[in-house]
Amino acid sequence: MPFSRHVFLLVAGLFCVNVVYKSIASLSLDSSGHGFQQVKHLRLRNTIARAEEQPIATATTVRTNDHPATTINVTAIPCLTNLTRTLLNAPAISTRHVVPFETGYETNWPKYGSAKVAWHPDAPSCRNEHPGPCKSFKTLDENMKYFALDMRGNGGGIAKCAPDNVMIGCLSCTKKELRDGIDIAVPPPTFLHEEYPDSVTEVEDRCLTAERLAYFRGQGRTKIRKQVAQAVLNETDIVVDLTKGYNNQELNAFQELANSKFGLIIRGDNMFTYRFSEVCAMGVVPVVIGTDWQLPFSEIIDWPNLAVVVNSSALDTLASAMRAVPDVCERQKRVYELYHKYLKGPEEWMKAVEEIDLLRGGSAGHLS
Ligand SMILES: *[C@@H]1O[C@H](CO)[C@@H](O)[C@H](O)[C@H]1NC(C)=O
Ligand SMILES: *[C@@H]1O[C@H](CO)[C@@H](O)[C@H](O)[C@H]1NC(C)=O
Ligand SMILES: *[C@@H]1O[C@H](CO)[C@@H](O)[C@H](O)[C@H]1NC(C)=O
Ligand SMILES: *[C@@H]1O[C@H](CO)[C@@H](O)[C@H](O)[C@H]1NC(C)=O
Repeated sequence: MPFSRHVFLLVAGLFCVNVVYKSIASLSLDSSGHGFQQVKHLRLRNTIARAEEQPIATATTVRTNDHPATTINVTAIPCLTNLTRTLLNAPAISTRHVVPFETGYETNWPKYGSAKVAWHPDAPSCRNEHPGPCKSFKTLDENMKYFALDMRGNGGGIAKCAPDNVMIGCLSCTKKELRDGIDIAVPPPTFLHEEYPDSVTEVEDRCLTAERLAYFRGQGRTKIRKQVAQAVLNETDIVVDLTKGYNNQELNAFQELANSKFGLIIRGDNMFTYRFSEVCAMGVVPVVIGTDWQLPFSEIIDWPNLAVVVNSSALDTLASAMRAVPDVCERQKRVYELYHKYLKGPEEWMKAVEEIDLLRGGSAGHLS
């Protein structure tokens, strides 16, 4: 099969949502391998544009009891990613404003596709228009509290230059890279897949009939993925499939997950992996193969009693750690509920931000 056709099928299979098909129509794929990268780009930017059907014209930032509403015309801000747009359009929370400039990029995302739709310091059309988050932080009102995203694959950069009144939500940070009591970890964005269960009942039904203990599918480039595959080689009810790539059409990874009690989360090139949110959306118990990656919203989500975390230097304990979990179906249901409450997308993330703020003792977006 010619490469371009292969990629087209892959794209067509990947995206079930109408809006995505529209984007695909204008996508030109080549045989240089660049086409696949465009696909990845498309996937990400459509994933995060959850408010796609709503026209984006203006957004109102946080309204607090003691501070008058501020209105931001989002279309007037140059070089915003759709993730930041969606965040700016999320319902206001009582504790913080979203910074009215771009911080939401991921390093290996805006390189592909048009610079018009995703801002990055390297994107030619935006480089001179936007000073970058570190400089933009200096333009903020120092008496207000803000929230900003750092969605780069290997994060930590923005938290270093942010003032204390800006909470950074970091996608791929270690604990050390987050300022204690100020920043938080956020989950990877997810794309809607038709295999995601629609109810807790469906999660429970799947759990009761699941034949497999654990599943993982992904590219086998990184050492840790190969080590995990090796470690579970003799376990017939654990599948770590590094051969087909995640987007293989003949074997639907989500259907495989639906038949599994646990979903392995094994890092790739970056510390975070999209598998994390996908496994949670599937209502499957995440098994994080220990890196230093900070799990999202850990102040309000009891990950130790929900997920399984296994040190990457103790892979011989992986299978037994999963088998020792007594309440798998209960955990699955809670994971599913938490996904919908906090992890699903920017609106849910902002709810988590607000709860964490309140927990930390803050109450209003205006510092007195
Ligand atoms: C970004 O979002 C807007 C409105 O939600 C949508 O019209 C546009 O197609 C999206 N852009 C991309 C590149 O997904
Ligand atoms: C928002 O900004 C865009 C682009 O600058 C402009 O065309 C539009 O009229 C503005 N909308 C409002 C309500 O000010
Ligand atoms: C799997 O089983 C084979 C044959 O019994 C054994 O040699 C090998 O060490 C086992 N591998 C693991 C990872 O347990
Ligand atoms: C993982 O194991 C190594 C080696 O035993 C240890 O040094 C490290 O602290 C452990 N990491 C965690 C997060 O427990």
